[in-house]
Amino acid sequence: MNNPQLTASGALQHLLSVEGLPREILVQILDTAESFCGVTEREVKKVPLLRGKSVFNLFFEPSTRTRTTFEIAAKRLSADVINLNIAASSQTKGESLLDTVANLSAMQADLFIVRHAQAGAPHLIARHVKPHEHVINAGDGRHAHPTQGLLDLYTIRHYKKDFNGLTVAVVGDILHSRVARSLIHGLSILGVPEVRVIGPQTLMPARVEALGVRVFHDMRAGLKDCDVVVMLRLQNERMRGTLLPSAQEFNKHYGLTAEKLALAKSNAIVMHPGPMNRGVEIDSSVADGPHSVILPQVTFGIAVRMAVMSIIAGN
Ligand code: NCD
Repeated sequence: MNNPQLTASGALQHLLSVEGLPREILVQILDTAESFCGVTEREVKKVPLLRGKSVFNLFFEPSTRTRTTFEIAAKRLSADVINLNIAASSQTKGESLLDTVANLSAMQADLFIVRHAQAGAPHLIARHVKPHEHVINAGDGRHAHPTQGLLDLYTIRHYKKDFNGLTVAVVGDILHSRVARSLIHGLSILGVPEVRVIGPQTLMPARVEALGVRVFHDMRAGLKDCDVVVMLRLQNERMRGTLLPSAQEFNKHYGLTAEKLALAKSNAIVMHPGPMNRGVEIDSSVADGPHSVILPQVTFGIAVRMAVMSIIAGN
């Protein structure tokens, strides 16, 4: 088996996608994150696991939550964090991605956190780094966003305790969503019996059923008896041509309102990776309501990213 993110002995060398991760590694990440949640509540929020290591944040696409929580996580592990200012970097002078990485490697990098609009960019870097260097994918095109998928799984486990017997619905722009893909792979590895995707045909990937999901175009039918509802942002920046009549029309059919949420189980949780478009995919009454765990997701993201970095750097 040739899995580019694992070492010959099966340990995690890079985190490129949730797809292809062995179940044991996935569970190890969630369990390690749980132990780090305690650290983040202490007055001194630091552990020395990455002391002396240099973490380079390479974000070629905008990000608030992911970049910041990676930085906080690395600092809580006592690493040195370097945020590259991409707009002012040599990429704008025509330097290739691999040359940029080779130069950072010459500055003794240990970990590269990479977000790129091009699917596969983190894989390309991972193929060229030195054996002691590690790459974590922080979102590549529409392909994967593994730490978001993992923090979503962590959040579900935190509130629902167990993955057995759950019904999880992922709603909205599935087609352009790396978050949806990573989460769906994770849910399937962990054995969640029913994963639903809800959205208009134009925002569904071709052959989406092959991911093991049930497809719904009617949101009310899809939300019925769900334990977890994951809302996605309309990724307008990735849409070529018109896939939707209008944001208002989308809101009418696929926006999460309190009235539609009432069809899910009474203890259902509502998640969103952010950034949210209030009044488009989610109403404020739901985003700020009692079922919402959207802000805890952000907090859990720190512990999950600490877990991934500490496991990888220890391998
Ligand atoms: C997501 C992303 O960038 O893929 N956001 C995030 O990482 N929190 C989702 C999005 O942009 O809609």
